[in-house]
Amino acid sequence: MCMALYTRSETNMSLSCVRRSRPFRTSSSSRRSLSLTMWSVKSTVRAGRFACRQISVEAGNVVFGRSGKQFHPMWLRERCVGPASVQQETLQAFRQPHEFPADLGIVSAQVSPLSDSGVAPRTLTVGFTDGHVSVFDADALNNEADDFAACGIQQSDIKCPDVFMWDKSTGSDVPRLSYLDVASGQPEVLLKLTTHLLRYGHVIVEGVPSRDGEVAAFARVVSEYPSVRPTNWGPVFNVRSFPDAALKDLSYTAEKLSPHVDNPYRNPNPGFQFLHVLENECASGESLAVDGFMAAEQLRLESPAFFKTLCQTDVRWENDGGDRSTALIHFAPMLEVDKSSGKLTQIRYSPKSGGYCPALSMEEADTFFQARRRFAELLHAESNMVRFQMVKGDLWIFNNLRLLHGRSEFNPHEGFRHLQGSYVDADAVTSAFFRAKYALKASSDSDSDA
Ligand SMILES: [Fe+2]
Repeated sequence: MCMALYTRSETNMSLSCVRRSRPFRTSSSSRRSLSLTMWSVKSTVRAGRFACRQISVEAGNVVFGRSGKQFHPMWLRERCVGPASVQQETLQAFRQPHEFPADLGIVSAQVSPLSDSGVAPRTLTVGFTDGHVSVFDADALNNEADDFAACGIQQSDIKCPDVFMWDKSTGSDVPRLSYLDVASGQPEVLLKLTTHLLRYGHVIVEGVPSRDGEVAAFARVVSEYPSVRPTNWGPVFNVRSFPDAALKDLSYTAEKLSPHVDNPYRNPNPGFQFLHVLENECASGESLAVDGFMAAEQLRLESPAFFKTLCQTDVRWENDGGDRSTALIHFAPMLEVDKSSGKLTQIRYSPKSGGYCPALSMEEADTFFQARRRFAELLHAESNMVRFQMVKGDLWIFNNLRLLHGRSEFNPHEGFRHLQGSYVDADAVTSAFFRAKYALKASSDSDSDA
């Protein structure tokens, strides 16, 4: 929870508050850009560090952030966390967008000088045309303006680990943890596990007891969500060389499985898959993983036009429910990117689940099929593929929105092979990451207070 320090505004027009930000580290890209726009602000210059350009107010009470970008009055106003603006325990907003004046403006704005100690936050006091006065933590505003994905309102630190994209040469060592460590529930271990998942896309946990349904119990321990994400395959599905009850899928055979994501025909797709080896007496049936983000970035570098068509063409994903009793259909592109950053957010690739393109013009279809063909080549390139043998007790957790998984053909006559799988939504892992991170931060703060 963000701490709030309440102050009475100088004009006594309304009660506002200062949002104290948690310690913030600028990204390297931010530091780079800042070094080009450095202002001489004595108190922010420390040995070996870049100076920070502060919020400034110019004629007409126009407020500029550190990057030199002008803040919109409404952008500032919805960041006010005073008691007239938000519920104080949750910091959730009271008002709807249409309840603010359409022409909301700023009548006064003032930046406080930094305290002599440099510890107290620099504040920005803004008077709005509707009579409301807000007092902001200027650093928090700057930090959010610089890195929208890392700084929030209801929680100030919302930065996820940076993604590390890998290929065979850099990702051959799948990160591994022990079951006993993870099952302890210690925040240090859960932070390590979830950081690996968010950074590399997968982790193998070793020594997980071979119990029916253990995979779902384990997923609940990691996420602290009361349930896993059920699908038409059930809360837990069984991967053997024969159908799971009456449900059929290519996975439920001994055939090889080329790199694919699961359930692209669902909306939303299951985010993370937990796949537990209950038994494996087969020497065949090697598992494989491909970092879909890496392959997609390779495609973007080779051919921006191919990348663009896979981002912009909504294709049709299909499944018959496993027993032809229903139709699971979703229309979505093979590649998804974040609109503001351009970073990849999701890969969909699974020919066994469709991916049929609409009847495009000859020219558009030609581009689409060439792009899909090249992307498939990259996904199947041995230079992008990591292979490993999973043994009894291994539980592989992977980001189903990023990682493609598969296996080579196995021979069921070698012995019994039984994997159980379960899904959780993507936010189950990110929220587990933040829970562990905040718990450790709180513990560290209480230790330093003692
Ligand atoms: Fe699969």
